[in-house]
Amino acid sequence: MSLKDTLLELKQTVLNKISVVEDLDSLNQIRIETLGKKGPITEVLRGMKDLTAQERPQVGAFANEIRDVLQTAVEERKRVIEDKVLTAKLSAETIDVTLPGNQIAKGNAHVIQQIIEQLEDQFMGMGYQIAEGPEVEEDRYNFEMMNLPKDHPARDMQDTFYITDEILMRTQTSPMQARMMEKHDFSKGALKMISPGRVYRRDTDDATHSHQFHQVEGLVIDKNITMADLKGTLLKMAQELFGEKHQIRLRPSYFPFTEPSVEVDVSWDEVTDKTQPEDIKWIEVLGAGMVHPNVLAMAGVDPEIYGGFAFGLGPDRFAMLKYGVDDIRNFYLNDVRFLAQFD
Ligand code: DAH
Repeated sequence: MSLKDTLLELKQTVLNKISVVEDLDSLNQIRIETLGKKGPITEVLRGMKDLTAQERPQVGAFANEIRDVLQTAVEERKRVIEDKVLTAKLSAETIDVTLPGNQIAKGNAHVIQQIIEQLEDQFMGMGYQIAEGPEVEEDRYNFEMMNLPKDHPARDMQDTFYITDEILMRTQTSPMQARMMEKHDFSKGALKMISPGRVYRRDTDDATHSHQFHQVEGLVIDKNITMADLKGTLLKMAQELFGEKHQIRLRPSYFPFTEPSVEVDVSWDEVTDKTQPEDIKWIEVLGAGMVHPNVLAMAGVDPEIYGGFAFGLGPDRFAMLKYGVDDIRNFYLNDVRFLAQFD
């Protein structure tokens, strides 16, 4: 093969190699191997002494030409690789402001808290104050001042967690009646309050019982309060919570702190002119009555002048009715899949 052909072949292989090389180190390696002092082109130029004087300038010029071509190819490829590296670096470092951000999980109020807040809104609208009280309560307020002296048989209805003989976990929110009446200045007008909160009983948990649940106590004390006021108030509450067409029914009952006492049912469905009374399905939702004179007197309120009504309802039971939940324990397991339904 002539020297010229060798050079042409060399040019082609090296150009091919350059065109596919992807990193600067390998490119540099090619440059040194081809164009360096020990490379084939230098060798050709060195071998020129064996050529005739006629051949020498031609071959020399040709070798130089090829060296220049290869040098340019290396430089161009170098620029291409550097560009690629820079582009890759830039795109790796750019921030795409149109990408959606990380979702922050949004919580919602517990369904029972929602019911309580709804009741608070309603009663505040009717001029009631909201009074919260201690969950660790004195026997005196929880029972005695509610007309349940020690050894009263009705204490059995509320199995109690005692902390000492005189301190207990409140079994009902009714003690707030006594606490509020004691404090209230009746010369300034009526006492109207609701008291929501947690209560505790030594019950074995099942679908309808929980050792911890909620109550909302209601109390109105003034002159000339009658059972009609109680019924009107409870009807309004039931209709706001369950719907305008629902009705309530009062049944005689017994509570030590009220006389007379009633249990109050709400109609499961709407009641219209066409509904036959025997078709109404009644659900018991709360206890109520006219405050017992003993309860007034023990809290320092004169039963000859003042009287009123009280009621105690269970928001857990309201939530079960309103949303068709069949197991009270669902409210206390804190399973987000359950709770998130009530957003
Ligand atoms: N404290 C009662 C209970 O836990 C509920 C209750 C009934 C409260 C009648 C009242 C009331 O204020 O008048 O069973």
